Amino acid sequence: MKHKIFYNKKLGLIIIISLLMVSIWISSLMIPIYGGSDSYTIEVKARRFAYEPDRIIVNQGDRITFKVTTLDITHGFYIDGYDVDLLVEPGKESVVTIVADKPGKFKIRCSVTCGYMHPFMVGELVVVENGINIVFVLSILIALLTALVSMYYVWKRW
Ligand code: CUA
Repeated sequence: MKHKIFYNKKLGLIIIISLLMVSIWISSLMIPIYGGSDSYTIEVKARRFAYEPDRIIVNQGDRITFKVTTLDITHGFYIDGYDVDLLVEPGKESVVTIVADKPGKFKIRCSVTCGYMHPFMVGELVVVENGINIVFVLSILIALLTALVSMYYVWKRW
């Protein structure tokens, strides 16, 4: 009788811990497998013969709105591989929104002839590939480990 109570307590504890771990695991499913997907605006200034900033680094999955203005004459804002080609006229703001779903380096070019250095008016969009979310992986591992340990104890007790 005494032994039975002890056994039930231990089993109860195991069940509680298992339920806790399962709930942690389920809540971890709400976390995206891949990290960050932010929304933000980047202001780009075009001038003869450069962009400011000339190197834009974002994370894969980010939703980016480019607001492009020119400090002098009309320029273009073309992003290789992202189907973006803006005409940037003086006194106006050219806006485009993209989702950076493709990782890699993409050339930004001026698509309007603007002078002798026009072919060299380039920038770069760097889309950093997102790794697998470590919290997600760890919580799955912990949940599996707990399940295995609980099963082992239950099996040993039987
Ligand atoms: Cu600026 Cu061409």
